[in-house]
Amino acid sequence: MRVLITGGSGFVGQRLCQRLIEAEHRVQVVSRDPEAARSRLPESVDVRRSALDFVDAPPEALVNLAGESIAAKRWSDDQKEKLLDSRLNVTRELVGLCEQLQQTGARMPRVMVSGSAMGYYGDQGDREVTEETTAHDEFAHRLCRRWEEAARKAESFGVRVALLRTGLVLDQGGGSLEKMLPPFKLGLGGRFGSGEQYMPWIHREDLVRAILFLLEHDELAGAFNGSAPHPVTNAEFTRTLAGHLKRPAFLPVPAIALETALGEMARLLLTGADMRPARLLEAGFDFQFETLEGALEDILA
Ligand SMILES: NC(=O)c1ccc[n+]([C@@H]2O[C@H](COP(=O)([O-])OP(=O)(O)OC[C@H]3O[C@@H](n4cnc5c(N)ncnc54)[C@H](OP(=O)(O)O)[C@@H]3O)[C@@H](O)[C@H]2O)c1
Repeated sequence: MRVLITGGSGFVGQRLCQRLIEAEHRVQVVSRDPEAARSRLPESVDVRRSALDFVDAPPEALVNLAGESIAAKRWSDDQKEKLLDSRLNVTRELVGLCEQLQQTGARMPRVMVSGSAMGYYGDQGDREVTEETTAHDEFAHRLCRRWEEAARKAESFGVRVALLRTGLVLDQGGGSLEKMLPPFKLGLGGRFGSGEQYMPWIHREDLVRAILFLLEHDELAGAFNGSAPHPVTNAEFTRTLAGHLKRPAFLPVPAIALETALGEMARLLLTGADMRPARLLEAGFDFQFETLEGALEDILA
C-alpha cells in the first residue's frame, strides 16, 4: 500500500514511517523542509513539500500528523492562530489532493487517519471520558474540533476518516518525556499543582500500532481515543517516573507559578481528562503497553 504522511518527519511520524517500511509499504511524506526530512527518514521515503505534489503518485491511505507543537510557546493570539493554521492548512491540502484526484479520475485514497488530541475534551475533572463524552469548551477543544472538521471533509470524496484523539506520547528521543527526564534524573521532579488532574498517555509503539490498525480496518470510522487503558493522574505519573529513576520527587510546582510563567498554556499541565480508549478496545485493538509501569520499564530500560 502507498501511504502519504503529513508530519512524517516528527516524533510519531518517524516511527510510523519505519514500521510501514518494515511491513513493505511505500511511504510518502509531506514536509515544509524536504531536505531536512529526508535526512531523518529512510532513503526509500518520497518526500515532497505539499500533499498536492502527489497527484501523479496517488496514495491509498493518508495519515495526517502535521502541526505546530502545542507546547512550543505561550498561547498568545498569534500563537493560537499558528497552532490552528498549521493544522488546518495541511489538512485542507489533503482534501485538495482528493479533489484533484477525483477531477483527474485517479484512484481515491481509501482512508485517512487524522490526528487530534485529548485536548478535544477540555478539562473534565475526574469524570471518566469516552468518545461519547461532551467536551468542555476551551481553546484546546476548539483547536481539535476544527482540525477534525477539516479532516472530515475528505468523507465527501468517499474517503473513510478515523480521528485519533491522542494522549501524551511516551518514548525515548522526543515528546514530553524527553523534557521531563532531566529534572527527574536530578531529583527535582514534582507534581503540577494538586496533581489530581489526569494525564492520559500512550507508548509511541502502541500509537503507531493503533494508526496501522485504523488504516487496515475498513469498518472503523469517526473518533477514537488514542491512549492506554489505564490513565494516571499527574501525581501518579510523577511517583511512577521518579520510582523508575530511583529518585525523589518531592518538589511540587504550584499552580500559580505555572500560570504566571505559561499563561493559558498552563492548562496543558494543570487540567486533563480521564480518557479511556473505549472504541479501540471495542474494535479489538490489543495494547502492548497497558500500564504506565510497563511502558516506562520498556522505555527507560
Ligand atoms: N507527541 C504527543 O505527545 C502528542 C499528543 C497529542 C497529540 N499529538 C499530535 O500528534 C501529531 C504528531 O505528534 P508529534 O509528537 O509527532 O509532533 P512533532 O514531532 O511536533 O511533529 C509534527 C510535524 O509537524 C510539522 N510541523 C511542525 N510545525 C509546523 C507548522 N507550523 N506548520 C506545518 N507543519 C508543522 C513538522 O514537519 P516538517 O518540519 O517536516 O514540516 C513536524 O515534524 C501532532 O499534530 C500533535 O499535535 C501529539
